[in-house]
Amino acid sequence: MSHQVALSFEDGVTRFVTCAEDQTVADASYRARINIPLDCRDGACGTCKALCESGEYDGGTYIDDALAPDEAAQGYVLPCSMKPRSDLVLQIASTSAVAKTRAATYSGTLTRLDRLSPTTIALGVEIADRDELAFLPGQYVNLAVPGTGETRSYSFSNAPDDKELTFLVKLTPGGLMSDYLTGAAAVGDEVRLTGPQGSFFLRESSRPVLLLAGGTGLAPILSILRRLRDEGSDRPLHLVYGVSTDDDLVELDTLEQLAAQLPSFSWDHCVSDPDSTAPNKGYVTGLLRPEHLHDGDVAVYLCGPPPMVEAVRKHFADEGVTPTGFYYEKFALSAPAAPAEPTPPAAPQPASTDTEVEAERPPEPVAEPAVPVERAATDAGPTSLVLPEGDRLLPVAEARRVTGQDTFPAREVAPLVAPAPATRGAAQEEDAPTSSCYEIGEDHPSVHESDALFEARQALELGAVELTIGRLDSRRLAGYRLLAESTLPYVEGDRFTDAAAYTESNAAFHDYLFTLTGNEHLLQAYQALGVKGHMDQVLRHATWCHPRCPQDHLDIVAAFEAGDRETARRLVVEHAERSKATTRRAMADAQARLRPPHISPGRFDGLVVLVTGAAQGIGEATARRVSAEGGAVVLADRSDLVHDLAGELTGVGREALATTADLETWAGAEAVVEAALARFGRIDVAVHTVGGTIWAKPFQHYPPEQVQAEINRSLFPTLWSCRAVVPHMAERGSGTIVNVSSVATRGLNRVPYAAAKGGVNAVTTALAMEMAPYGVRVVATAPGGTEAPARRIPRGPAPESAEEKAWYQTIVDQTVDSSLLGRYGTLDEQAAAITFLASPEASYITGTVLPVAGGDLG
Ligand code: FES
Repeated sequence: MSHQVALSFEDGVTRFVTCAEDQTVADASYRARINIPLDCRDGACGTCKALCESGEYDGGTYIDDALAPDEAAQGYVLPCSMKPRSDLVLQIASTSAVAKTRAATYSGTLTRLDRLSPTTIALGVEIADRDELAFLPGQYVNLAVPGTGETRSYSFSNAPDDKELTFLVKLTPGGLMSDYLTGAAAVGDEVRLTGPQGSFFLRESSRPVLLLAGGTGLAPILSILRRLRDEGSDRPLHLVYGVSTDDDLVELDTLEQLAAQLPSFSWDHCVSDPDSTAPNKGYVTGLLRPEHLHDGDVAVYLCGPPPMVEAVRKHFADEGVTPTGFYYEKFALSAPAAPAEPTPPAAPQPASTDTEVEAERPPEPVAEPAVPVERAATDAGPTSLVLPEGDRLLPVAEARRVTGQDTFPAREVAPLVAPAPATRGAAQEEDAPTSSCYEIGEDHPSVHESDALFEARQALELGAVELTIGRLDSRRLAGYRLLAESTLPYVEGDRFTDAAAYTESNAAFHDYLFTLTGNEHLLQAYQALGVKGHMDQVLRHATWCHPRCPQDHLDIVAAFEAGDRETARRLVVEHAERSKATTRRAMADAQARLRPPHISPGRFDGLVVLVTGAAQGIGEATARRVSAEGGAVVLADRSDLVHDLAGELTGVGREALATTADLETWAGAEAVVEAALARFGRIDVAVHTVGGTIWAKPFQHYPPEQVQAEINRSLFPTLWSCRAVVPHMAERGSGTIVNVSSVATRGLNRVPYAAAKGGVNAVTTALAMEMAPYGVRVVATAPGGTEAPARRIPRGPAPESAEEKAWYQTIVDQTVDSSLLGRYGTLDEQAAAITFLASPEASYITGTVLPVAGGDLG
């Protein structure tokens, strides 16, 4: 059971989190990415102390030093220890901003102001606390325009370890930054920058790299090249650099130098202006050769205007090549969209990544073609894209795309954090909405999507490790550990105990590292991969988990606590492999489930089979097998999951109807039969796989209401379902009913359930006698312990206390001991017996209860 917990912060902000009864409030808050103050997380330090204004709770265990008895009497609580018993309202002793993270702001001075060409300036900046600014090659910062209160975004062109920070700025007449740089700016001026930002950065891999730069989009590419040079990389690298006019062509000497330092690096450049004196006139696509594409086994990094991204994408499509990774950062050169509300004419406008843009400026020519490139050499090579007139400035309409998923449109990038006091440097200045004309994205091929997702996550995480390791305070490390630990209860050995809960807590753990970077793009880049959605889907029925996965989480946190970068990186890589193995196995198992291993083709051809309790477990396996053997199935359950199953079966051309109802009631059972008859006009077979133990305990520990609930759950659905269907079968003079009982009629620690299933046996034998004259058979199976995926709809609360766990274990032990085969059965083994009894092959069997329990006769 879950409760809503309202967290009321000192600044008046209130956030709500959903907290399960077996979860601490701190755990639930961290999963919701609300970092309430924490330290020990163990009820020992008092850091998390909060005031509970309303609601009931279990305060958990703690020491008096952390929370004195009189404080507890006044309603103070420790969220790291407390668990809700009702909805709660808590006053949290911090502001909402403190409960989050943000990019840092740094003060520095201008060290360089080089006019590289009539249109481009190179800036140099040094900051005092340089060691504290970690960034990844390709990322950017928001640079405050001195004296204006505005910021503009520029990508670093220096390597991450260089002391001096450098940027390329395209001059735009009338632009705020341009006016400053060409007017009052002087070496020694104070500047402020906030970052790093962005998810466009070099991923670690040994794959060949194709770099494409448009205009001052060269800056992040230079940073990438400098990093590769510093690493002594031998990855095959090729750069194509395109600009509009000769005036825009800069840093050619730098590229020459890099080529001399990086033996695996080659480059070329082109200018689109037909009057250019450059050897290659045209556009970057005209300089792409098949050898640069490596048959698709290449990581492409592109920074340039939107038409360039689209043109390159089209070029790849035309060539029939899908790069393994296509990472792009595109910046619009057109005026930004009109504001939603009127603003003064002088209102500052959003900037692009590295080119300053003013609203009233006409768009610049862009680096993509109206004519094919003219190569200097006589070998003309393939022609490049010809854009129709008017298409020079394509709207930035397309959102990020990752493995075919559309994700955040640039204008919807919400700030990750609320404003907070400056952490470094001088007075804090709010960032300008610099995301408006700016998009970062990455494409991956859809083949091997699952592996590709985890590889992409790994690449992003390695980047996040670089940005955060050694920089986290104890409070954030405590939160990180809490999230790592929250994944532990859902895996035992190599088995999921609750795959859905694992997926949820695992996603919160991985999200948190990106949250810690304070970089909204990085977090969203991770979320845009859709790893959680993929895991939700793939692990839905999973039973197997790589046994190291949860431990990896703890070990990664331990590496962070030790500041051990190499271990953290190794673990991130290994964890990605284990995640791949887990999802691969789940997908293989799911495939196997879709095709039952043993079927008798056509055995149910032309028959209408009603399966109650079909959402999961034995009911689902039976329905799948009947369907595979040609039957039309009516899938009944109180869970909506039957609609998914019906959709899946009809999707492959089979007949299936899903209907939801509460089968513990007569009305529910009657409604199911009516729905089946309304659709198919008859029911040939009714399989009743309903019920299940809710609580496991010695009989004297069952309170009366639990006894009643067990009987309601495991006897009445079968009783009502039989009652609902027999009039129809009697009238038709044919039909088969298969009830599903249990060998628990002779078992420990579940007397009420045993009584209910004994009742099912009695219904079966007695009803068989009554219905035989009508030509209706009534039979049952009595399953023993059966291996099944973790239930998506739990029957009851998981055993919590040591005593409850021991009672439950008694059932498990007794089940295995009573089986002559010494093991649990499988869903397929149960479905095989049910479908045999349900089929015409069993036409001379009625009134029989068949134990399917490895020799345990119940
Ligand atoms: S008592 Fe230390 S974090 Fe809660």
